[in-house]
Amino acid sequence: MGLLDDKVALVTGGSRGIGRAIAVALADAGAHVMIVYRRAAEEAECVADEIKKKGRSSVAFQGDVAVYIEAKDIVDKVVVQYNRLDILVNNAGITKDGLLMRMTEEDWDGVINTNLKSVFNVTKAAIRPMMTQRSGKIINITSVSGIIGNAGQANYAASKAGMIGFTKSLAKELGSRNIQVNAVAPGFVETDMTAKLTDEQRQKLAEIIPLRRTAKPEEIAGVVRFLASSDADYITGQVICVDGGMVM
Ligand SMILES: NC(=O)c1ccc[n+]([C@@H]2O[C@H](COP(=O)([O-])OP(=O)(O)OC[C@H]3O[C@@H](n4cnc5c(N)ncnc54)[C@H](O)[C@@H]3O)[C@@H](O)[C@H]2O)c1
Repeated sequence: MGLLDDKVALVTGGSRGIGRAIAVALADAGAHVMIVYRRAAEEAECVADEIKKKGRSSVAFQGDVAVYIEAKDIVDKVVVQYNRLDILVNNAGITKDGLLMRMTEEDWDGVINTNLKSVFNVTKAAIRPMMTQRSGKIINITSVSGIIGNAGQANYAASKAGMIGFTKSLAKELGSRNIQVNAVAPGFVETDMTAKLTDEQRQKLAEIIPLRRTAKPEEIAGVVRFLASSDADYITGQVICVDGGMVM
């Protein structure tokens, strides 16, 4: 018996990195896991196949979660197929770093739309079936940048701080319907997103992490799996930092 046997989950940005680790962890616990990806069809199909090999069902949906109608269409397809949606993980995200002096309007809009508006788009479609079921878990992947800020990431930090406000507001709106809404704030995780950092930047980062190391995607996924399970039924509106102690 898995913690999430036969639950239906949707993970945005599930084709790689943290989203991939989350999708696999939810499937390991027994859930059927649908993923959304933007471009890398082959990577996404690999994740879906890995989940199917575990005996759970999985579909990889191509779509841009920053576009309302595309996000709604994907959620609707999942609900038509399974007649329910138990777990939503809003994980898709991008960075377009640069000091504000040099940041373009396009860099600002791109990050806000992909990281924050997408959360509105997907969640708005997902809460209808959850409200009907009178149960659901929504987990938003924010970042420590949204809590403590980061020079060169005004757009990213604003999007991630926005996710935290969204999480807390929605937790208050949906608590009476038995829907828990929480956020996970990773620190520095080894993924494609962080691969572009220089050795010098990595060294500096390691110095401000009390545990003196970066995280593996699986270390974020484990916390998400816990929040998605009935063990976390009395937790809502929280931001759990999984950051080696950067924020305390
Ligand atoms: N890597 C880190 O150190 C770190 C730290 C804190 C927070 N995070 C957050 O964790 C999440 C995952 O990060 P990651 O490092 O795994 O990133 P990643 O770049 O490896 O993967 C991002 C995923 O999001 C998807 N995606 C991006 N834009 C999309 C769009 N418009 N529509 C649909 N899918 C889209 C991609 O297809 C991919 O699957 C992000 O929200 C990121 O901000 C990451």
